[in-house]
Amino acid sequence: IRTQVAIIGAGPAGLLLSHLLDAAGIDSIVIDQRSRDEIEHTIRAGILEQGTVDVLVSTGASTRVLSEAHQHDGIELRFDGGGHRFDFPALTGRSVWLYPQHEVLKDLIGARLAAGQDLRFNVTAQSVEGAETDRPHVIATDADGQTLDIEADLVVGADGSRSVARVAVCGSSRDGYFREYPFAWFGILCEAPPSNDVLIYSNSDNGFALISQRSDTVQRMYFQCDPDADPDALTEEQIWEELQSRVPGTTLKEGPIFQRDILRFRSFVAHEMRRGRVVLIGDAAHTVPPTGAKGMNLAVADVVLLEKAIRALLLEDDERPLDRYPEVASRRIWKAQHFSWWMTSMLHVAPDASEFDRRRQLGELRMVTESEAGRAYLAEAYTGWPFETQR
Ligand code: DHB
Repeated sequence: IRTQVAIIGAGPAGLLLSHLLDAAGIDSIVIDQRSRDEIEHTIRAGILEQGTVDVLVSTGASTRVLSEAHQHDGIELRFDGGGHRFDFPALTGRSVWLYPQHEVLKDLIGARLAAGQDLRFNVTAQSVEGAETDRPHVIATDADGQTLDIEADLVVGADGSRSVARVAVCGSSRDGYFREYPFAWFGILCEAPPSNDVLIYSNSDNGFALISQRSDTVQRMYFQCDPDADPDALTEEQIWEELQSRVPGTTLKEGPIFQRDILRFRSFVAHEMRRGRVVLIGDAAHTVPPTGAKGMNLAVADVVLLEKAIRALLLEDDERPLDRYPEVASRRIWKAQHFSWWMTSMLHVAPDASEFDRRRQLGELRMVTESEAGRAYLAEAYTGWPFETQR
Protein backbone atom coordinates (compact mmCIF):
# COMPACT_ATOMS: atom_id res chain seq x y z
CA ILE A 1 0.00 0.00 0.00
CA ARG A 2 1.25 3.45 -0.83
CA THR A 3 0.27 6.81 0.73
CA GLN A 4 1.83 10.20 1.36
CA VAL A 5 1.61 10.11 5.16
CA ALA A 6 1.23 6.90 7.17
CA ILE A 7 -0.20 7.65 10.61
CA ILE A 8 0.01 5.08 13.40
CA GLY A 9 -2.69 5.67 16.00
CA ALA A 10 -6.31 6.84 15.73
CA GLY A 11 -6.32 8.96 18.88
CA PRO A 12 -6.91 12.72 18.90
CA ALA A 13 -3.44 13.41 17.45
CA GLY A 14 -3.51 10.94 14.55
CA LEU A 15 -7.10 11.62 13.53
CA LEU A 16 -6.80 15.40 13.70
CA LEU A 17 -3.58 15.27 11.68
CA SER A 18 -5.26 13.22 8.93
CA HIS A 19 -8.16 15.69 8.94
CA LEU A 20 -5.89 18.73 8.51
CA LEU A 21 -3.75 17.01 5.87
CA ASP A 22 -6.84 16.08 3.86
CA ALA A 23 -7.93 19.73 3.85
CA ALA A 24 -4.50 20.56 2.38
CA GLY A 25 -4.91 17.87 -0.30
CA ILE A 26 -2.46 15.45 1.30
CA ASP A 27 -3.33 11.77 1.34
CA SER A 28 -2.91 9.65 4.48
CA ILE A 29 -3.68 6.25 5.95
CA VAL A 30 -4.47 5.90 9.66
CA ILE A 31 -4.16 2.56 11.45
CA ASP A 32 -4.94 1.64 15.06
CA GLN A 33 -4.68 -1.64 16.91
CA ARG A 34 -7.92 -0.97 18.80
CA SER A 35 -11.47 -1.44 17.51
CA ARG A 36 -13.60 1.59 16.66
CA ASP A 37 -15.88 0.70 19.56
CA GLU A 38 -13.02 0.68 22.06
CA ILE A 39 -11.69 4.02 20.82
CA GLU A 40 -15.12 5.65 20.99
CA HIS A 41 -15.98 4.37 24.44
CA THR A 42 -12.79 4.50 26.53
CA ILE A 43 -13.16 7.27 29.09
CA ARG A 44 -10.17 9.63 28.97
CA ALA A 45 -9.60 13.35 29.52
CA GLY A 46 -12.30 16.00 29.69
CA ILE A 47 -10.92 19.52 29.43
CA LEU A 48 -10.21 21.35 26.15
CA GLU A 49 -8.17 24.53 26.01
CA GLN A 50 -9.63 27.45 24.09
CA GLY A 51 -7.05 26.94 21.31
CA THR A 52 -8.02 23.27 21.01
CA VAL A 53 -11.69 24.19 20.63
CA ASP A 54 -10.78 26.84 18.05
CA VAL A 55 -8.89 24.28 15.95
CA LEU A 56 -11.65 21.67 16.17
CA VAL A 57 -14.32 24.17 15.17
CA SER A 58 -12.49 26.20 12.52
CA THR A 59 -11.35 23.08 10.63
CA GLY A 60 -14.73 21.33 10.82
CA ALA A 61 -13.16 18.47 12.82
CA SER A 62 -15.91 18.70 15.43
CA THR A 63 -19.12 20.64 14.97
CA ARG A 64 -20.72 19.16 18.08
CA VAL A 65 -18.14 20.74 20.39
CA LEU A 66 -19.89 24.10 19.92
CA SER A 67 -23.29 22.81 20.98
CA GLU A 68 -22.34 20.06 23.43
CA ALA A 69 -19.31 21.34 25.34
CA HIS A 70 -19.73 23.24 28.58
CA GLN A 71 -17.74 26.45 28.93
CA HIS A 72 -15.87 26.60 32.25
CA ASP A 73 -14.80 30.07 33.27
CA GLY A 74 -12.66 28.92 36.14
CA ILE A 75 -11.71 26.33 38.72
CA GLU A 76 -11.73 26.25 42.49
CA LEU A 77 -8.64 25.36 44.52
CA ARG A 78 -9.31 24.05 48.01
CA PHE A 79 -6.84 23.79 50.86
CA ASP A 80 -6.74 24.31 54.61
CA GLY A 81 -10.52 24.56 54.87
CA GLY A 82 -10.93 27.37 52.32
CA GLY A 83 -12.00 27.57 48.66
CA HIS A 84 -10.35 29.92 46.17
CA ARG A 85 -11.91 30.74 42.80
CA PHE A 86 -9.80 31.37 39.70
CA ASP A 87 -11.74 33.50 37.22
CA PHE A 88 -10.12 32.60 33.88
CA PRO A 89 -11.74 35.24 31.61
CA ALA A 90 -10.87 38.00 34.09
CA LEU A 91 -7.29 36.73 34.47
CA THR A 92 -6.51 35.77 30.87
CA GLY A 93 -9.44 36.59 28.57
CA ARG A 94 -9.77 32.85 27.87
CA SER A 95 -11.81 29.89 29.11
CA VAL A 96 -11.70 26.11 28.89
CA TRP A 97 -14.40 23.69 27.75
CA LEU A 98 -15.56 20.45 29.28
CA TYR A 99 -16.01 17.98 26.43
CA PRO A 100 -14.97 14.35 26.88
CA GLN A 101 -12.11 13.08 24.73
CA HIS A 102 -14.16 10.12 23.48
CA GLU A 103 -16.72 12.58 22.11
CA VAL A 104 -13.91 14.37 20.25
CA LEU A 105 -12.90 10.97 18.88
CA LYS A 106 -16.45 10.13 17.73
CA ASP A 107 -16.59 13.48 15.90
CA LEU A 108 -13.18 12.97 14.28
CA ILE A 109 -13.86 9.36 13.25
CA GLY A 110 -17.25 10.37 11.81
CA ALA A 111 -15.71 13.24 9.84
CA ARG A 112 -12.83 11.12 8.55
CA LEU A 113 -15.02 8.23 7.41
CA ALA A 114 -17.51 10.61 5.77
CA ALA A 115 -14.59 12.09 3.80
CA GLY A 116 -13.49 8.65 2.59
CA GLN A 117 -10.38 8.49 4.78
CA ASP A 118 -8.50 5.19 4.71
CA LEU A 119 -8.87 4.47 8.44
CA ARG A 120 -8.20 0.91 9.59
CA PHE A 121 -9.07 -0.43 13.02
CA ASN A 122 -7.67 -3.65 14.53
CA VAL A 123 -4.43 -3.17 12.61
CA THR A 124 -1.32 -3.40 14.78
CA ALA A 125 1.93 -1.71 13.78
CA GLN A 126 4.86 -4.07 14.28
CA SER A 127 7.73 -1.85 13.19
CA VAL A 128 8.72 1.21 11.21
CA GLU A 129 11.50 0.67 8.66
CA GLY A 130 13.62 2.96 6.53
CA ALA A 131 13.49 6.11 8.67
CA GLU A 132 16.62 7.46 6.96
CA THR A 133 15.26 6.94 3.44
CA ASP A 134 12.67 8.87 1.38
CA ARG A 135 10.34 5.84 1.52
CA PRO A 136 9.78 4.77 5.11
CA HIS A 137 7.45 1.79 5.70
CA VAL A 138 5.08 0.69 8.41
CA ILE A 139 4.89 -3.07 8.80
CA ALA A 140 1.62 -4.05 10.46
CA THR A 141 -0.68 -7.02 10.96
CA ASP A 142 -4.46 -7.00 10.65
CA ALA A 143 -7.01 -8.91 12.73
CA ASP A 144 -6.60 -12.01 10.51
CA GLY A 145 -2.85 -12.03 11.02
CA GLN A 146 -2.16 -10.78 7.46
CA THR A 147 0.88 -8.56 7.05
CA LEU A 148 0.42 -5.04 5.69
CA ASP A 149 3.30 -3.03 4.27
CA ILE A 150 2.47 0.69 4.07
CA GLU A 151 4.97 2.80 2.15
CA ALA A 152 4.87 6.57 2.63
CA ASP A 153 6.78 9.82 2.19
CA LEU A 154 6.52 10.31 5.94
CA VAL A 155 5.51 8.12 8.89
CA VAL A 156 3.92 9.76 11.93
CA GLY A 157 3.87 7.93 15.27
CA ALA A 158 0.70 9.01 17.06
CA ASP A 159 0.53 5.68 18.80
CA GLY A 160 0.49 6.68 22.43
CA SER A 161 2.76 6.06 25.37
CA ARG A 162 3.62 2.50 24.26
CA SER A 163 4.63 3.76 20.83
CA VAL A 164 6.09 1.36 18.27
CA ALA A 165 7.25 4.28 16.11
CA ARG A 166 9.37 5.54 19.03
CA VAL A 167 11.68 2.55 18.56
CA ALA A 168 12.48 3.74 15.02
CA VAL A 169 13.08 7.30 16.22
CA CYS A 170 14.93 6.74 19.51
CA GLY A 171 16.32 3.23 19.13
CA SER A 172 14.28 1.95 22.07
CA SER A 173 10.76 2.46 23.36
CA ARG A 174 11.94 3.69 26.77
CA ASP A 175 14.53 6.21 25.63
CA GLY A 176 13.53 9.53 27.21
CA TYR A 177 13.45 11.94 30.14
CA PHE A 178 11.39 10.26 32.78
CA ARG A 179 9.79 10.83 36.18
CA GLU A 180 7.56 8.67 38.30
CA TYR A 181 5.28 9.68 41.17
CA PRO A 182 4.55 7.78 44.39
CA PHE A 183 0.77 8.07 43.93
CA ALA A 184 -2.02 7.52 41.40
CA TRP A 185 -5.69 8.48 40.97
CA PHE A 186 -8.67 6.36 41.83
CA GLY A 187 -11.19 7.54 39.23
CA ILE A 188 -14.94 7.02 39.20
CA LEU A 189 -17.89 7.80 36.97
CA CYS A 190 -21.21 8.14 38.74
CA GLU A 191 -24.79 9.03 37.99
CA ALA A 192 -25.38 12.26 39.87
CA PRO A 193 -25.84 15.98 39.24
CA PRO A 194 -22.74 18.24 39.47
CA SER A 195 -21.64 19.04 43.02
CA ASN A 196 -20.29 22.48 42.08
CA ASP A 197 -20.47 24.85 39.10
CA VAL A 198 -16.72 24.54 38.37
CA LEU A 199 -14.14 21.77 38.89
CA ILE A 200 -12.75 21.53 42.42
CA TYR A 201 -9.04 20.73 42.89
CA SER A 202 -8.68 19.95 46.58
CA ASN A 203 -5.56 19.51 48.70
CA SER A 204 -6.28 18.00 52.10
CA ASP A 205 -4.46 16.19 54.89
CA ASN A 206 -6.01 12.98 53.52
CA GLY A 207 -4.59 13.63 50.05
CA PHE A 208 -5.81 15.18 46.81
CA ALA A 209 -9.23 14.97 45.17
CA LEU A 210 -10.55 16.36 41.89
CA ILE A 211 -14.29 16.84 41.54
CA SER A 212 -14.81 16.96 37.79
CA GLN A 213 -17.88 16.53 35.60
CA ARG A 214 -18.98 14.90 32.38
CA SER A 215 -22.58 16.08 31.91
CA ASP A 216 -25.64 17.22 33.83
CA THR A 217 -26.23 13.63 34.93
CA VAL A 218 -22.77 11.99 34.93
CA GLN A 219 -19.84 13.08 37.10
CA ARG A 220 -16.13 12.20 37.05
CA MET A 221 -14.22 12.29 40.33
CA TYR A 222 -10.75 11.23 41.40
CA PHE A 223 -8.89 10.81 44.65
CA GLN A 224 -5.20 10.25 45.28
CA CYS A 225 -4.38 6.61 45.99
CA ASP A 226 -1.51 4.15 46.09
CA PRO A 227 -0.30 3.21 42.56
CA ASP A 228 -0.88 -0.47 43.39
CA ALA A 229 -4.41 0.05 44.73
CA ASP A 230 -7.05 -2.44 43.58
CA PRO A 231 -10.04 -0.52 42.16
CA ASP A 232 -12.41 -3.27 43.28
CA ALA A 233 -11.21 -3.38 46.89
CA LEU A 234 -13.49 -0.53 48.09
CA THR A 235 -17.27 -0.53 48.49
CA GLU A 236 -19.21 2.40 46.99
CA GLU A 237 -19.73 3.70 50.50
CA GLN A 238 -15.97 3.65 51.18
CA ILE A 239 -15.31 5.49 47.92
CA TRP A 240 -17.72 8.26 48.88
CA GLU A 241 -16.11 8.46 52.33
CA GLU A 242 -12.66 8.84 50.74
CA LEU A 243 -13.85 11.52 48.33
CA GLN A 244 -15.91 13.40 50.89
CA SER A 245 -13.07 13.48 53.44
CA ARG A 246 -10.86 15.26 50.91
CA VAL A 247 -13.28 18.10 50.10
CA PRO A 248 -14.28 19.33 53.53
CA GLY A 249 -16.83 22.14 53.26
CA THR A 250 -18.67 20.68 50.28
CA THR A 251 -21.31 17.97 50.43
CA LEU A 252 -20.78 15.87 47.32
CA LYS A 253 -23.90 14.82 45.45
CA GLU A 254 -23.64 11.03 45.45
CA GLY A 255 -25.09 8.50 43.04
CA PRO A 256 -24.47 5.00 41.66
CA ILE A 257 -20.84 4.45 40.61
CA PHE A 258 -20.74 2.68 37.24
CA GLN A 259 -17.03 2.77 36.44
CA ARG A 260 -13.83 2.80 38.46
CA ASP A 261 -10.21 2.83 37.34
CA ILE A 262 -6.69 3.57 38.53
CA LEU A 263 -4.69 6.23 36.62
CA ARG A 264 -0.93 5.94 36.96
CA PHE A 265 1.19 9.08 36.99
CA ARG A 266 4.20 9.55 34.75
CA SER A 267 6.13 12.38 33.18
CA PHE A 268 8.00 11.44 30.02
CA VAL A 269 9.60 13.20 27.05
CA ALA A 270 11.29 11.13 24.34
CA HIS A 271 14.93 12.07 23.74
CA GLU A 272 14.18 12.49 20.02
CA MET A 273 10.95 13.41 18.23
CA ARG A 274 12.18 12.85 14.70
CA ARG A 275 14.56 10.66 12.80
CA GLY A 276 14.65 11.21 9.04
CA ARG A 277 11.15 10.61 7.74
CA VAL A 278 9.63 9.35 11.00
CA VAL A 279 8.11 11.84 13.46
CA LEU A 280 6.42 11.45 16.87
CA ILE A 281 3.42 13.43 18.15
CA GLY A 282 1.19 13.33 21.23
CA ASP A 283 1.74 10.69 23.91
CA ALA A 284 4.19 8.85 21.67
CA ALA A 285 6.53 11.82 22.21
CA HIS A 286 5.54 12.86 25.73
CA THR A 287 3.31 11.93 28.65
CA VAL A 288 2.16 14.20 31.46
CA PRO A 289 0.50 13.33 34.77
CA PRO A 290 -3.21 14.15 34.51
CA THR A 291 -3.39 17.09 36.97
CA GLY A 292 -4.14 20.18 34.88
CA ALA A 293 -5.50 18.28 31.87
CA LYS A 294 -2.67 19.01 29.43
CA GLY A 295 -2.33 15.64 27.65
CA MET A 296 -4.82 15.92 24.79
CA ASN A 297 -4.29 19.66 24.42
CA LEU A 298 -0.55 19.17 24.00
CA ALA A 299 -1.19 16.53 21.34
CA VAL A 300 -3.34 19.03 19.41
CA ALA A 301 -0.58 21.65 19.63
CA ASP A 302 1.91 19.12 18.17
CA VAL A 303 -0.48 18.45 15.29
CA VAL A 304 -0.98 22.13 14.48
CA LEU A 305 2.78 22.54 14.22
CA LEU A 306 3.54 19.31 12.36
CA GLU A 307 0.78 19.79 9.79
CA LYS A 308 2.44 23.01 8.62
CA ALA A 309 5.80 21.26 8.42
CA ILE A 310 4.32 18.40 6.35
CA ARG A 311 2.67 20.84 3.97
CA ALA A 312 6.00 22.61 3.47
CA LEU A 313 7.75 19.27 2.88
CA LEU A 314 5.27 17.66 0.51
CA LEU A 315 3.76 20.65 -1.29
CA GLU A 316 6.74 23.03 -1.44
CA ASP A 317 9.68 20.64 -1.14
CA ASP A 318 10.86 22.69 1.87
CA GLU A 319 12.23 20.51 4.65
CA ARG A 320 13.21 23.33 7.01
CA PRO A 321 9.98 23.46 9.07
CA LEU A 322 10.26 19.70 9.63
CA ASP A 323 13.88 20.17 10.70
CA ARG A 324 12.73 22.74 13.27
CA TYR A 325 9.68 20.80 14.44
CA PRO A 326 11.34 19.02 17.42
CA GLU A 327 12.86 22.20 18.77
CA VAL A 328 9.76 24.36 18.36
CA ALA A 329 7.40 21.68 19.70
CA SER A 330 9.59 21.01 22.71
CA ARG A 331 9.20 24.59 23.98
CA ARG A 332 5.50 24.02 24.64
CA ILE A 333 6.08 20.41 25.69
CA TRP A 334 8.43 21.45 28.50
CA LYS A 335 6.12 24.25 29.64
CA ALA A 336 3.29 21.72 29.85
CA GLN A 337 5.62 19.25 31.59
CA HIS A 338 6.43 21.87 34.18
CA PHE A 339 2.81 22.89 34.67
CA SER A 340 1.59 19.30 35.06
CA TRP A 341 4.41 18.46 37.47
CA TRP A 342 3.79 21.70 39.40
CA MET A 343 0.03 21.22 39.78
CA THR A 344 0.65 17.61 40.78
CA SER A 345 3.34 18.45 43.34
CA MET A 346 1.47 21.42 44.77
CA LEU A 347 -1.78 19.54 45.29
CA HIS A 348 -0.88 15.95 46.24
CA VAL A 349 0.47 14.77 49.58
CA ALA A 350 3.48 12.54 48.96
CA PRO A 351 3.49 9.42 51.18
CA ASP A 352 6.90 10.37 52.58
CA ALA A 353 6.13 14.09 53.03
CA SER A 354 7.56 15.53 56.23
CA GLU A 355 5.80 18.14 58.36
CA PHE A 356 8.13 20.71 56.75
CA ASP A 357 7.05 19.63 53.24
CA ARG A 358 3.38 19.83 54.19
CA ARG A 359 3.66 23.35 55.65
CA ARG A 360 5.77 24.55 52.74
CA GLN A 361 3.09 23.24 50.37
CA LEU A 362 0.37 25.22 52.14
CA GLY A 363 2.63 28.29 51.92
CA GLU A 364 2.93 27.75 48.18
CA LEU A 365 -0.85 27.39 47.77
CA ARG A 366 -1.34 30.64 49.73
CA MET A 367 1.23 32.45 47.57
CA VAL A 368 -0.49 31.37 44.37
CA THR A 369 -4.07 32.05 45.46
CA GLU A 370 -3.53 35.30 47.35
CA SER A 371 -1.63 36.96 44.52
CA GLU A 372 -3.31 38.20 41.35
CA ALA A 373 -0.06 37.42 39.52
CA GLY A 374 -0.09 33.93 41.02
CA ARG A 375 -3.67 33.30 39.93
CA ALA A 376 -2.88 34.64 36.45
CA TYR A 377 0.21 32.38 36.22
CA LEU A 378 -1.92 29.30 36.88
CA ALA A 379 -4.79 30.51 34.67
CA GLU A 380 -2.52 31.25 31.68
CA ALA A 381 -1.14 27.74 31.74
CA TYR A 382 -4.47 26.05 32.43
CA THR A 383 -6.29 27.81 29.58
CA GLY A 384 -3.32 27.17 27.27
CA TRP A 385 -0.60 29.26 25.69
CA PRO A 386 -0.97 30.60 22.15
CA PHE A 387 0.20 28.17 19.47
CA GLU A 388 3.79 28.66 18.33
CA THR A 389 4.01 30.22 14.93
CA GLN A 390 7.04 28.96 13.06
CA ARG A 391 9.45 31.46 11.67
C1 DHB B 1 -10.22 15.91 34.28
C2 DHB B 1 -8.95 15.41 34.36
C3 DHB B 1 -7.94 16.24 34.74
O1 DHB B 1 -6.69 15.78 34.83
C4 DHB B 1 -8.14 17.56 35.04
O2 DHB B 1 -7.11 18.33 35.43
C5 DHB B 1 -9.41 18.05 34.93
C6 DHB B 1 -10.44 17.22 34.55
C7 DHB B 1 -11.33 15.02 33.89
O3 DHB B 1 -11.08 13.87 33.55
O4 DHB B 1 -12.48 15.45 33.97
